[in-house]
Amino acid sequence: MTAILSVSDLTVAYGGVTAIDGVSLSVDDGEIVTVLGANGAGKTTLLLAIMGAVPASRGRIALRGTDVSRSRAHHRLAQGLVLVPEGRQVLVSLTVEENLLLGAHLRRDRQAVRNEIAAIYERFPNLGQRRHTAAATLSGGEQQMVAIGRAMVARPQVLMLDEPSLGLSPLFVSKVFDLIEEMNRSGLTIVLVEQNTGKALSVAHSATVLELGKVAIAGPSEALRNDHRLLEAYLGGAADIADEPSSMRANSQ
Ligand SMILES: Nc1ncnc2c1ncn2[C@@H]1O[C@H](COP(=O)(O)OP(=O)(O)OP(=O)(O)O)[C@@H](O)[C@H]1O
Ligand SMILES: [Mg+2]
Repeated sequence: MTAILSVSDLTVAYGGVTAIDGVSLSVDDGEIVTVLGANGAGKTTLLLAIMGAVPASRGRIALRGTDVSRSRAHHRLAQGLVLVPEGRQVLVSLTVEENLLLGAHLRRDRQAVRNEIAAIYERFPNLGQRRHTAAATLSGGEQQMVAIGRAMVARPQVLMLDEPSLGLSPLFVSKVFDLIEEMNRSGLTIVLVEQNTGKALSVAHSATVLELGKVAIAGPSEALRNDHRLLEAYLGGAADIADEPSSMRANSQ
């Protein structure tokens, strides 16, 4: 497989604080890579630096082999690096449809955009019924669907999701992970930052664990799923292993 996104030796500092320190990450075409780590480990900073929203002091970011490290954020977006940021960032005073259309501002093919929005409404009838309603009236889970829908309308090559399940009800957590798997099955490459370790490892092909801005562990997610003692060492209380089959959990009891 070929790497669609390749990050090498990336370093980002906020003033004197080094948030990301020499991080490398390779994402193959069509895979889901999850990035895990405790609070403050540097997960959001990594995604923002890949997007070009925060400057890197060192390192290289390549999309399909082309160095985009010096490109501005809007250029990277046009190249297909699309981020659904932490906290959803849906514009609550705009309608559902206006929010979705924001994802289309770089697109010229209006009919294709319409078709995609129609497909989102078909997938989430609740959003379709409320397409002309202010997003403020939606639940947190529905707003997350709008945020992911808006990213899809931008036609990502690599979709980056920053804690998409955070603060959602169990029903919407399942819906978010179902959607992630569905988008991936249709060929989309995904970088998934999550605190829900169990669910993230169950959908991801590979995983990278950050600790204090450095890569602590990286490998196939299956290997990490089977070694939750290691995970707990890096994730502490965040090592939510509830999704593991009980046969695996029995080993450590
Ligand atoms: N704008 C900023 N200015 C200064 N320091 C920052 C800024 N944003 C993040 N940091 C620091 O950089 C480090 C990494 O933060 P980051 O938000 O990337 O971590 P995270 O893994 O996403 O954490 P969380 O799980 O809480 O979302 C932390 O020490 C944080 O305090
Ligand atoms: Mg974060």
